[in-house]
Amino acid sequence: MDWLSINRERSVPYIRQVYVGIREAIHSGKLKPGEKLPSTRELAERLGVSRNVVMEAYDMLFAEGYVSGKKGKGTFVAEGAQLDRLPDMPKSRRKDASVVDESVIDFRTGMPDGGCFPRGLWVQCYKKAVLNGPTRQFHYQPAAGSAALREALAGYLRRARGIVCDPDCIVVTNGAAQALAISAKLLLGPGRAAAIENPSTREIRSIFASYGGHIHSVPVDRGGIVTSALPDDPRVRMIYVTPSHQFPTGGVLPIQRRIELLHYARSVDAYIVEDDYDSEFRYEGPPVSALYELDPDRVIYVGTLSKMLSPSLRIGYAVLPEPLVENFIMEKWISDIHTHSLEQEALAVFIDEGHLERHVRKMRHRYRKKQQLLVKSLAEKFNGNIELFGTSTGLHISVHAPHLPASPEPVNVGGVRLYPVQYHVFGDERRKHEWMFGFGHLSEQEIVEGVRRLPGV
Ligand SMILES: Cc1ncc(COP(=O)(O)O)c(C=O)c1O
Repeated sequence: MDWLSINRERSVPYIRQVYVGIREAIHSGKLKPGEKLPSTRELAERLGVSRNVVMEAYDMLFAEGYVSGKKGKGTFVAEGAQLDRLPDMPKSRRKDASVVDESVIDFRTGMPDGGCFPRGLWVQCYKKAVLNGPTRQFHYQPAAGSAALREALAGYLRRARGIVCDPDCIVVTNGAAQALAISAKLLLGPGRAAAIENPSTREIRSIFASYGGHIHSVPVDRGGIVTSALPDDPRVRMIYVTPSHQFPTGGVLPIQRRIELLHYARSVDAYIVEDDYDSEFRYEGPPVSALYELDPDRVIYVGTLSKMLSPSLRIGYAVLPEPLVENFIMEKWISDIHTHSLEQEALAVFIDEGHLERHVRKMRHRYRKKQQLLVKSLAEKFNGNIELFGTSTGLHISVHAPHLPASPEPVNVGGVRLYPVQYHVFGDERRKHEWMFGFGHLSEQEIVEGVRRLPGV
């Protein structure tokens, strides 16, 4: 056992060093089953420690079954204590995918400006919620979410979106993503079908696909979903749309199509899932009404705090037609009992004190400035030889730029990360040279520099 030594610099007790050294050798196969260990006296002398140290280490190994022995006959490595090492993972797999290369300017979509998160106000609201709330807030909470938050959200929706709803029809979820997943769980499955905008967020489509049933891709044009192309299929139970700001192409659904969509939903007895992920940031014209307002019995309205505040909160919500509420709450409970309740209470305080609406107003102004800068920089870069769409709302714009290369996947080009619309397209449709530019999280300097780095005309 020449490999075993004592490190006198370390604060780890000698007994533990001997014990761990031998245990590791057994796990790794360096010491084989049946092999005899040196006597305690011999090993103690070699390591320059007292015999008691080795005796105690052997006792520990004995107690845990690593070694066996009979008095006077010696100590032996026990059978079955070897642990097969898992093969080393390739380095690339080990790397955390969220680790970003700071030198690359990333035009990723849907990212708010993290630097503007109202840290101080959030801490104040959190503190108030934790210090002033009743003791029961530290127990399990209702799956539907905090009563105070659901009241606050109903008030916010009335003031900001003109949506009038009963707080009892609101269920708080872990982001919009969970609200969409639970809707799909309730509405989809074998023998059923969904009609989904094409293109639409690839990740969200994967969520829907995971619940089974058939998925119809419905084309999208500059006005959003093309309602005349809705499938003639009585199995359709769910229609997924982003009517205030189509993701990713940016259209706003005109009223005539909204009405056609509702007629269609009624005719096949389907629910419309309205994903209202970023309409708070509207830069042109009056706010766009929610589809929900037209028919609260047919529409599941899904909102999120991810763009208004931060995706790290993981707070979203669904406003549901009454007949769906009970089952939705049940599915939420099955998924994860409830969303973090202290964050929910803090958010309720944040909304009740008017901070949310003030923050959104401030951010709308900032994002508009960033968007204008991006549009100007792109126009200059390509000598006006580009077509912009989806500039009315949100944290990204889409661009048809024949001078940018075509790619089906996000790419790094010259120190910039770019996201093609094609990435979110299903089937054969081709949207060559269409790119999305997310700008919410980038500084003005990064926007200018990012555009400068793009391959030129
Ligand atoms: C169109 C759309 N809907 C919903 C979401 C999900 O948002 P959340 O963070 O609330 O789950 C995203 C995420 O970026 C999105 O792009």
